[in-house]
Amino acid sequence: MTERNLVLLGPPGAGKGTQAERLVGDFDLPYYSTGIILREAVEQDTELGTQAKEYMDRGDLVPDELICNVIAERFDSGEADYGFLLDGFPRTVGQAEMLAGALEKRERSLTAALLIEAPDEEVVRRLSGRRTCVKNNHVYHVEFDPPKSEDVCDQDGSRLVQRDDDQPETVRKRLSVYHEQTAPLIDWYSEKGLLRRFDGTRTPEEVHSHIRATLATLALEAEI
Ligand code: AP5
Ligand code: MG
Repeated sequence: MTERNLVLLGPPGAGKGTQAERLVGDFDLPYYSTGIILREAVEQDTELGTQAKEYMDRGDLVPDELICNVIAERFDSGEADYGFLLDGFPRTVGQAEMLAGALEKRERSLTAALLIEAPDEEVVRRLSGRRTCVKNNHVYHVEFDPPKSEDVCDQDGSRLVQRDDDQPETVRKRLSVYHEQTAPLIDWYSEKGLLRRFDGTRTPEEVHSHIRATLATLALEAEI
């Protein structure tokens, strides 16, 4: 079977985590969200967490070196040998170059960079109402995707909380960091023929079925 080596790209709040939940269910891929990895490190007070916290609280990116080491470790472990879904990595051209190098060294390549797009004002509305569960990071929205019982995860019964970096000022900072440092990856992947665009303002179900259709086409093309 063809490998699926996938990257989810897009502004904060575009729906990367929401779609990742669904794609992991579809394809049983190892899933690496650098945001989740970093938040867990902060919560567990590890050395990585201590180094990352001040950047995350400000809405800045953590230094490339710090996060590239995290991803390199996952690749070295062998668990991503047959495919992966990366969410929130790469986020700078330096990180994209590191990923390309790590794959090339293993004679592998990226299948696609899936760009989910949403305008800034939509992002602000979404992040102010986002809730995530403490156990498995399942994602909800108080208005657009509410849980059945308030503040309780439908899937695992754990408590729903608001992320520290979802305060309006931090969201605005994250958006400007996205436009300055991450958006250049759109051209970078486009020039390599790897970019696939999705309209993140559609419903989560519609976005999911568009991504699935694109991945099915790519798999067929790879077999020809
Ligand atoms: P990270 O956790 O990756 O945050 P982000 O990129 O800002 O993205 P979000 O998780 O906020 O949004 P999402 O696209 O996943 O949206 P979601 O599906 O939750 O990173 C956090 C921080 O960690 C960074 O600021 C940085 O400091 C650091 N970091 C992480 N990776 C790094 C890296 N590689 N390098 C350096 N630093 C790094 O959806 C949002 C809301 O919208 C939810 O409420 C959801 O229910 C709702 N929603 C989703 N889809 C739809 C839809 N189609 N219609 C209506 N509502 C929807
Ligand atoms: Mg996310």
